[in-house]
Amino acid sequence: MKHKTIILMLFLAAALLISTGLSQNPIHAQQKAAEKQTEKPKETCITGQCHAQMGKDKFVHGPVTAGECAPCHGESPKHKDDPENNKFALIMKISDKCFSCHERFKPKQFTHTAIENNECTECHSPHGSEYKFQLKAKGGELCFQCHDNAIVGKQFVHGPAAVGGCVACHEPHTADYQKNLKAEGPELCFICHTDKAEMIHGAQFIHKPVSERCTSCHNPHSGAKQFMLDSSAPALCLECHKDKKEQLDTVTVKHGALETEKTCLNCHDAHNSNIAKNLTKEPLDLCLSCHDREYKRADGKMLMNMKKWLTENKDHHGPIKQKDCSGCHNPHGSNNFRILRSFYPATFYEPFGVENYDLCFSCHEKTLVLNPETTKLTNFRNGNANLHFVHVNKAIKGRTCRACHETHASNSPKHIREAVPFGGWDLPLNYQKTETGGSCTPGCHKLKKYDREKKEING
Ligand code: HEC
Ligand code: HEC
Ligand code: HEC
Ligand code: HEC
Ligand code: HEC
Ligand code: HEC
Ligand code: HEC
Ligand code: HEC
Ligand code: HEC
Ligand code: HEC
Ligand code: HEC
Ligand code: HEC
Ligand code: HEC
Repeated sequence: MKHKTIILMLFLAAALLISTGLSQNPIHAQQKAAEKQTEKPKETCITGQCHAQMGKDKFVHGPVTAGECAPCHGESPKHKDDPENNKFALIMKISDKCFSCHERFKPKQFTHTAIENNECTECHSPHGSEYKFQLKAKGGELCFQCHDNAIVGKQFVHGPAAVGGCVACHEPHTADYQKNLKAEGPELCFICHTDKAEMIHGAQFIHKPVSERCTSCHNPHSGAKQFMLDSSAPALCLECHKDKKEQLDTVTVKHGALETEKTCLNCHDAHNSNIAKNLTKEPLDLCLSCHDREYKRADGKMLMNMKKWLTENKDHHGPIKQKDCSGCHNPHGSNNFRILRSFYPATFYEPFGVENYDLCFSCHEKTLVLNPETTKLTNFRNGNANLHFVHVNKAIKGRTCRACHETHASNSPKHIREAVPFGGWDLPLNYQKTETGGSCTPGCHKLKKYDREKKEING
C-alpha cells in the first residue's frame, strides 16, 4: 500500500512539473536561449554598489528577476569598469525586444495607437514596479498619462471608471471592437449589468436605441446628470424625437403630466416594457394613476377626479371600455381644449358646424346631425323627426353634445347626463328611456316626450 502511494505521488509530481513546464513553454524556451547567449560572463549587474534597487519592486519583470539585462540592453564589457564613460546605447525599438520573448499580440481589427507607436514602456516598466504587470501607474492614472482625465470629471461618475477600471471595458493593446472595446453595443454593458440584461431580453418591447447603443444616452465614463446622462428627460428624449419637440413647443394646451418632474418618464420607460409604446402601465391605469384626484388648474377651475367618476358611473363609453383614453386625448398636448385630439367645443351652445364635432365624428356617423328626417340614423327621433338635428343643427344656440351626453361614463342609458353645468347651475335633465323613445324634463323646457313608432305631440 505505502509503496503504491509513493509511486502515485511521484507520478503526480512529475506530471505537475511537465504541465507547468509546458504552460510556460514559449517564454521559457526563449529565455533559455537568451540565457545561453549570456552564459559566459555569468555575473549579475545587480550588486550592493550597482543597481542595488533593481529587482526590489513588488512586481519584478521576469528577466530582471533572473539577472538578465543583456536581452534588452545588449553588451558593454567596459561599462562595469567605467560606467560614466561607457553608457549603454539607448534601446531603439523596444517593442521588438519585448516580442523577442513574448508572443506578438494576436492581430485584431483595432490597435491602440500607443501600441502602433511601440510605446510598451510608456505603460510597463521594463524592470519592475509597484503594480501588477509592472505597470507604471495604477488604474486610470496609467491612461491619464496620455488621455485627458476630463472624461471622468463630470458630476456623476460611472463605478468602474471612477475606480480606474478602464481595462474592464477597453483592451490596452488590440481589440475586436472600435475604441478598443471588449464588446460591442449593449453587450459591453451586459458584461456587468446582468440584471438589466435579463430585464431587457425578457421584455416584449425594447426601445430602439437601447437595443442598439446604450451610450446614445449614457456616457460610459461620467455625465452631468444622474445615471451618467448628459441631459435628462424631456431634453434627452427630444434630441431624437424631433417631431415631439415641435409638438411640445407649439401646442397651446399643454398636458400637466409633462410639466411634472419626471416628464416623459411619468408614462414611458426609457428602456423596455411589456406594454406597447414602452408605457409604464396599461394605458387606462396610467392615466388614472394621476387622475385619481382633483386638480386645481391655474385658472382656478377644478379638474374632476376621473377615477372616482368611472368607479361611480358603471356604464362606460365605448373607448373607455376598451381602456383607451388616448383615442380622444393626446397625452403630449394639443391645440384643442382638454388636449383633445380633434376639435370639440368647450361650450354649452355653439352655432352649428359639422366640423365642431370632429372628435365625436372620428368614430360616429356625422349623418346623425345632418338629416332633418330619418328612419334609421338615430334613435333620438320623434316619428321620423331627427331630434339630434333639432337640438344640435342650429345657426344660433345649437346645443353641443355635452348638453345631453356624458363623455366618459354615466349611470343613465345612452350616456345621458343626470345634470349639465349651465353657468353656475347644475341643470337637471330627468331623462326617462322607454321601449320606443323617451322623455325629459330639463331646465330648458317642460316635459317633452319622443316616440319613434308613434310620434308624440308635445304641447
Ligand atoms: C525588457 C527589457 C529590459 C531589461 C530586461 C532590462 N532593461 Fe534596463 N532599461 C530598459 C529600457 C527600455 C530602458 C529605458 C532607456 C532606454 O530606452 O534605453 C532601461 C533603462 C535602464 C537604466 C537607466 C534608467 C533607469 O531606469 O534607471 C538602467 C540603469 C537599467 N535599465 C538597468 C538595467 C539592468 C541593470 C538590467 C538587468 C538587471 C536591466 N536594465 C534590464 C529595458 C530593459
Ligand atoms: C528576455 C525575455 C523577455 C523580454 C525581452 C521581455 N520579457 Fe516580459 N517577461 C519575461 C518573462 C520570463 C516574464 C515572466 C513570465 C511569467 O511570470 O509568467 C515576463 C513577464 C512580463 C509581464 C508580466 C506578465 C504576467 O503575466 O505577469 C509583462 C507585462 C511583460 N513581461 C512585459 C514585457 C514588456 C513590455 C517587454 C518589453 C519592454 C518585455 N516584457 C520584454 C521575459 C521577457
Ligand atoms: C496603454 C498602456 C499599455 C501599453 C502601451 C502596453 N501595455 Fe501591455 N498591458 C497594459 C495593461 C493595462 C495590462 C494589464 C491588462 C489587464 O489587467 O488585463 C497589460 C498587460 C500586458 C501583458 C500581460 C498580460 C497579457 O495580456 O498577456 C503583457 C505580456 C503585455 N502587456 C505586454 C505588452 C507589450 C509587449 C507592449 C508593447 C508592444 C505593451 N504591453 C504595451 C497596458 C499597456
Ligand atoms: C502613451 C500614451 C497613451 C497611453 C498611456 C494610453 N493611450 Fe490610449 N491612445 C493614445 C493615443 C495617441 C491614441 C490615439 C489618439 C486619440 O484618439 O486620442 C489613443 C487612443 C485611445 C482610444 C481611442 C481609440 C479610438 O479608436 O479612437 C482609447 C479608447 C484609448 N486610447 C484608451 C486608453 C486606455 C484605456 C488607456 C489606459 C489603459 C490608454 N488609452 C492609455 C495614447 C495612449
Ligand atoms: C463601462 C465601460 C467603460 C469604462 C469602464 C471605460 N470606458 Fe472608455 N469608453 C467606453 C466606451 C463605450 C467608449 C466609446 C464611447 C462612444 O463611442 O461614444 C469609450 C471611449 C473612450 C475613449 C475614446 C474617447 C472618444 O471620445 O472617442 C477613451 C480615450 C477612453 N474611453 C478612455 C477610458 C479611460 C481612460 C477609462 C478609465 C478611466 C475608461 N475609458 C473607462 C467604455 C468604457
Ligand atoms: C465592468 C463592469 C461594468 C460595465 C462593463 C458597465 N458597468 Fe455600469 N456600473 C457598474 C458598477 C459597478 C456600477 C455602480 C453600481 C452601483 O452604484 O450600484 C455601475 C453603475 C451604472 C449606472 C448607474 C446605476 C445607478 O443605479 O446609479 C448606469 C446608468 C450604468 N452603470 C450604465 C452602464 C452602461 C450604459 C454600460 C455600458 C456602456 C455599463 N454601465 C457598463 C459596472 C459596470
Ligand atoms: C433612450 C435613452 C437610454 C438608453 C438608450 C439607455 N438608457 Fe439607461 N437610462 C436612461 C434613463 C433616462 C435612465 C433614468 C431612468 C429613470 O429615472 O427612471 C436610465 C437609467 C439606467 C440605469 C439605472 C437605473 C435603472 O434603471 O437600473 C441603468 C443601470 C441603465 N440605465 C443601464 C442602461 C443600459 C445597460 C442600457 C443599454 C442596454 C441603457 N441603459 C440604455 C436612458 C437610457
Ligand atoms: C438616441 C435617440 C433616441 C433617444 C435619446 C430617445 N429615443 Fe425614443 N425612439 C428612438 C427610435 C429610433 C425609436 C424607434 C422609432 C421607430 O421605430 O419609428 C424610438 C421609439 C420610441 C417610442 C415608441 C416605441 C414604439 O413602440 O413605437 C417611444 C414611446 C419613445 N421612443 C420614447 C422615448 C423617451 C420617453 C425618451 C427619453 C427617455 C426617448 N424615447 C429617447 C430614438 C430615441
Ligand atoms: C401622460 C403620459 C405620457 C407622457 C407624459 C408622455 N407620453 Fe409619449 N405616449 C403616451 C401614450 C399613451 C402613447 C401611445 C398613444 C399615442 O400614440 O399617443 C405615447 C406615445 C409616444 C410615442 C410613440 C408614438 C408617437 O406619438 O410618435 C413617442 C415617440 C412618445 N410617446 C414620446 C414621448 C416623449 C418624448 C415624451 C416626453 C416629452 C412623452 N412621450 C411623454 C403617453 C405619454
Ligand atoms: C370619447 C372621447 C373621450 C375619451 C375616450 C376620454 N375622454 Fe376625457 N374628455 C373628453 C372630452 C370631450 C372632455 C371635455 C368634456 C367637457 O368639458 O364636456 C374630456 C375631459 C376630460 C378631463 C377633464 C375633466 C374636467 O373636469 O373638466 C379629464 C381629466 C379627462 N377627460 C380624462 C380622461 C381619462 C383619464 C380618460 C380615460 C379613462 C378619458 N378622459 C377618456 C373626451 C374623452
Ligand atoms: C403624471 C401624472 C399624470 C398622468 C400619468 C396623466 N395626467 Fe393628465 N394631467 C395631469 C396634470 C398634473 C394635469 C394638469 C392639471 C392642471 O392644469 O393643473 C393634467 C391634465 C389633464 C387634462 C386636462 C387638460 C387641460 O388642461 O384641459 C386631461 C384631459 C388629461 N390630463 C388627460 C389625461 C390622460 C388621457 C392621461 C393618460 C394618457 C393622463 N392625463 C395622464 C397629470 C397626469
Ligand atoms: C374613439 C372613438 C369614439 C369617439 C371619439 C367617440 N365615441 Fe361615442 N362611442 C364609441 C364606441 C365604440 C361606442 C360604443 C358603441 C356600442 O357599444 O355599440 C360609443 C357609444 C356612444 C354612445 C352610446 C351609444 C349606445 O348605443 O349606447 C353615445 C351617446 C356616444 N358614443 C356619444 C359620443 C359623443 C357625444 C362623442 C364626442 C364627444 C363620442 N361619442 C366620441 C366610440 C367613440
Ligand atoms: C338634446 C339632447 C341631445 C344632444 C344635444 C345630443 N344627443 Fe345624442 N342622444 C340623445 C338621446 C336622448 C339619445 C338616445 C336615443 C334613444 O336611444 O332613445 C341619444 C343617442 C345618441 C347616440 C346613440 C345612437 C343613436 O343615435 O341613437 C349617439 C352616438 C349620440 N347620441 C351622439 C351624439 C352626438 C355626437 C352629439 C353631438 C353632436 C349628440 N349626441 C347630441 C340626446 C342628445
